[in-house]
Amino acid sequence: MKVLAIESTCDETAAAVVENCGAGVKILNNVVASSVLMHQKYGGIVPEVAAREQIKSIIPVITEALGEDKDSIDGIAVSFGPGLMGSLLVGVESAKALAWAWKKPLYAVNHMGAHILANWIVESMTAKVPEFPAVGLVVSGGHTDIVLMTSVKDWKWIGGTRDDAVGEAFDKAARLLGLPYPGGPEISKAVERVTDAMKERYGKKYKLPRPLLNEDNLDMSFSGLKAAVAKTVIELGEIDEETRDMLAWEFSEAIIEILVKKTMMAVEKNKPKCVLMAGGVAANKQLRENLRIEVEKIDGVKFFCPELKYCGDNAAMVGAVAIIAPQEVKPTELKPDPSVTTV
Ligand code: KG4
Ligand code: ZN
Repeated sequence: MKVLAIESTCDETAAAVVENCGAGVKILNNVVASSVLMHQKYGGIVPEVAAREQIKSIIPVITEALGEDKDSIDGIAVSFGPGLMGSLLVGVESAKALAWAWKKPLYAVNHMGAHILANWIVESMTAKVPEFPAVGLVVSGGHTDIVLMTSVKDWKWIGGTRDDAVGEAFDKAARLLGLPYPGGPEISKAVERVTDAMKERYGKKYKLPRPLLNEDNLDMSFSGLKAAVAKTVIELGEIDEETRDMLAWEFSEAIIEILVKKTMMAVEKNKPKCVLMAGGVAANKQLRENLRIEVEKIDGVKFFCPELKYCGDNAAMVGAVAIIAPQEVKPTELKPDPSVTTV
């Protein structure tokens, strides 16, 4: 089955053509247009601007993803939420129109579920896909959730943030440090600039808190950590580049320590066969590496994380859901749902 998938929940307009491949999903074409540069000057996403950019990009992006494939498409998939209403409307209405005009089935996809099912994207028929039960860690601009999966359609939320999402915390801390939006990749770049000599020179000077780290539950909290960065920046007055990079490094260390510890607590309690990480923040190299190392210490537990290009928002993951866990809907019944919680 070949599916055209559309993603427009936030500031990326994306379309992909995917098909089933063994137990997974193969990506035939994957196109992403981002309005991130337009949001940089405001220091964050402006919903009105994002929606207008979605309208400009949607037809060129779908056309490019389709290439010569139009006549062989068997169905259309679209993210219907969670996300920004104005942005969601563009993708959902485009998908409905195509499904209606081409008389093809329409598949409704939850964006968060799509992030996790990006772990089913493969390159060959024999590639291994995750097994159940699985513990999932979804880390993005809007989510920090730990879920227990017993099948591709059965999930239970078992833990997560009490306040800010981890991507949001990265973005806000970066802004406090004078780094551009989106903050996650900028903080990663700052971390790479930190040398051993700098670590030695600064020692524990900029130690930040690890909220809820030692509580015996899967709750997380990032707003206090962000506030601690704000307090340090205010106290220091002006900060030079080295201090800024050291603060970014300590912030990143704190976040990664919390995410790894809480995920491993979930692993300890639920004895899964796999740990699946997903979402924009899953592109963080140090987080990928640290979590992989901890998971692989446990016999029989495998670690999965999508390739970098399938971590941030993309349509390939949306197509993956339509193939692996399809949920067909009538075009007349599908509406965007900015705050959908069910996967
Ligand atoms: O999944 P995503 O593309 O969009 C949402 O659904 O929210 O995630 C975007 C988030 C942003 O907050 C961005 O700063 C963060 O992912 N991000 C990162 C990295 N790359 C992107 N956070 C930490 N480290 C990174 N390397
Ligand atoms: Zn996302």
